[in-house]
Amino acid sequence: MISHPAYAIEPWCLRESKLHLDVLAQSESVFTLSNGHIGWRGNLDEGEPHALPGTYLNGVHELHPLPYAEAGYGYPESGQTAINVTNGKLIRLLVDDEPFDLRYGRLRSHERVLDLRSGLLHRVCEWTSPAGTTVRVRSTRLISFTQRAIAAVAYEVEPLDAQTNLVVQSELVTNEQLPTLTGDPRVAAAIESCLQPEEHFALGTRLRLVHRTTHSNLRVAAAADHVVRGPNSTRTSSESSDDVGRLTVTAALDPGQTLRLEKLVAYGWSGFRSLPAVRDQVEAALASARSIGWQGLVDQQRAFLDDFWRHADIEVDGDAEIQQAVRFALFHVLQAARRAEQRAIPAKGLTGSGYDGHSFWDTETFVLPVLTYTSPNCVAEALRWRQNTLSAARARAHQFGLRGAAFPWRTIDGAECSAYWPAGTAAFHVNADIAAAVVRYVWATGDADFERETGLELLVETARLWHSLGHHDSGGRFHIDGVTGPDEYSAVANDNAYTNLMARANLQAAAEAAERHAAQSAAYGVDDEETASWRDAAKAMAVPYNPALGVHEQSAGYTGLDVWDFAGTRPEQYPLMLHFPYFDLYRKQVVKQADLVLAMYLCGDAFEEDQKARNFAYYEPMTVRDSSLSACIQCVMAAEVGHLSLAYDYLGEAALIDLADLEKNTRDGLHIASLAGVWIGLVAGFGGMRDHGNFLHFAPRLPERLDRLAFSLRLRQRFLRIDITSSRVTYTLKEGDPLQISHRGEVIALSKDAPQTRPTEPPTARPEPAQPPGRRPAPRH
Ligand code: BGC
Repeated sequence: MISHPAYAIEPWCLRESKLHLDVLAQSESVFTLSNGHIGWRGNLDEGEPHALPGTYLNGVHELHPLPYAEAGYGYPESGQTAINVTNGKLIRLLVDDEPFDLRYGRLRSHERVLDLRSGLLHRVCEWTSPAGTTVRVRSTRLISFTQRAIAAVAYEVEPLDAQTNLVVQSELVTNEQLPTLTGDPRVAAAIESCLQPEEHFALGTRLRLVHRTTHSNLRVAAAADHVVRGPNSTRTSSESSDDVGRLTVTAALDPGQTLRLEKLVAYGWSGFRSLPAVRDQVEAALASARSIGWQGLVDQQRAFLDDFWRHADIEVDGDAEIQQAVRFALFHVLQAARRAEQRAIPAKGLTGSGYDGHSFWDTETFVLPVLTYTSPNCVAEALRWRQNTLSAARARAHQFGLRGAAFPWRTIDGAECSAYWPAGTAAFHVNADIAAAVVRYVWATGDADFERETGLELLVETARLWHSLGHHDSGGRFHIDGVTGPDEYSAVANDNAYTNLMARANLQAAAEAAERHAAQSAAYGVDDEETASWRDAAKAMAVPYNPALGVHEQSAGYTGLDVWDFAGTRPEQYPLMLHFPYFDLYRKQVVKQADLVLAMYLCGDAFEEDQKARNFAYYEPMTVRDSSLSACIQCVMAAEVGHLSLAYDYLGEAALIDLADLEKNTRDGLHIASLAGVWIGLVAGFGGMRDHGNFLHFAPRLPERLDRLAFSLRLRQRFLRIDITSSRVTYTLKEGDPLQISHRGEVIALSKDAPQTRPTEPPTARPEPAQPPGRRPAPRH
């Protein structure tokens, strides 16, 4: 657990004023810098002590076998694991004749600050060596949003009380020794020393290493160049070997003198390009970074982030902790996605090795909605990645005897790697999640080229899957049997309401898009008969409902199952999947994460208002939140049905998931979906924003704790600001053509700089629902 005083609460930065070695792994995750292409965990400059050294390049992974004791048709045979690539962060220091290692000597002060406005990670510390020499070290790190291949460090050392001999070694190191993280020796064998050397180079201040992965056959190059400033005594030399490139700088400094090193690092990788091509690619990136220079990179980063925050910032008055947390969350969501460019956005971004670096439905359902309204280009790129993986998804559908495409549950390169098929492979809803992201993006941006070139193909292939997976019964109703919905404590169920409602929207959207782009859809083999069959299936979609209870069923027959013995479950037996057999979870009513409740948010126009309230009251006491994807959705729906204080507690859980290490696994990387969920909780929960039916609806209502909430949205070249207090809301169109929105059902015409204010209304008061014993979110009062 991160002991909270470790981080000060400040609106625009995360400041750690003392080094806590016991939470080093967590701080490495929260201080990760990334641009979606490169990820550097917040490891200390000198490399050690460390918990998990981490340098990731989006898409770079190794393959390993996934053998099964019992063979079965269609089991994925190959696992994929993101690997730790060449570490370019390393700068080792020798002070007189002793290594600068904070575990020895005396650490007089140590501060790290992640500045969310400048995108820089600052560190300053004062250390006295065991022999009594004191130095101050300052470093600043960045991973450029504007130069995709570039990371950089500015590093300074100054002696504080006597003349001191310094040796600084700035390195590129491949195949670093890693702590054992996996209990599976096959995975460990595949990812340890998995990079085979192809070339090493050192000349003057320049270094370069090129490697290749053993099984996945990916070529990875890293190159560095340096600017060194020091007194006349300063000397440099460089050398390289298979796994190390090293620039060594020596200098004798008097107090008041500084040795400064600016290190520029370029990364590139390819599964196709030759060694000379990849080498040239990193050298070119480095040449460009050299010409921009350290200060130029810093300035570009700031300008980029100024623009991002102008359109994305959320102001929260009344709760400084949430204010900080939402900016921290948005910053990391941006970092996970911004320059991913047709690569996946992993569940942990590039912040750690958790989930083996895989991507899930988390991307489309949690991350892309946030980016659609704040940084929409990222969304187009993420969905183009899905399109690029269509051949694997088509092959998977074919393997199952189905039409269209079956997108993977977890993957890096597009091939399924879930070895646990009931929770993974049967979760077909990922198809509809992708389709929903396409529809939202196209509507919110009006990007017709994207729809024709990318969206349409995704919609067509996902719709085909649904049509062949489901069937009409004798009465004509359309059912989708044998699937796993978002709640992984149920599996292979019939007519999962979430899946069916999302599939319905997918089928309808595909038919509409095919008609809009007749020539292109004909090229995909779509004809009128096929679109009519999609519409028929959508129209006849079964949505299970129990009239006696007056609630929707999560899946057909769900409400007839035994209810889990919550009273007999001890607090330490959560998460349940680690303490009880799946067969028992599967046959009981116990919900791992919002499922029907998620359907009520995303497909809210398919439910009546009081149905939502009854459903929420029914599912709340059996939802255990063993997934971090749940709290933000429960926040949204709790707010909608009138439980504002409960909603606020859920918001707190989503927001502090990593800053307070609530799930005790922040060490493995950040929970990017939960972080995106902070935006979702504030905007959709308390702003009451919905985008059903190609229209923006708002129903703002603040919890007692908040005095004010203000957020911005980008919509079709427009820029909207919504400012909410406890009694009123003001809608301002800051840029763009007039627009209609709805405030609690009233249509409002907005035009530029003519703000419209309306009173907010408290939601209908309803009896507070209970949670399973011990699973109430921590109260924020
Ligand atoms: C959740 C999934 C999620 C995955 C990755 C699991 O615990 O149940 O819904 O996709 O984590 O975040």
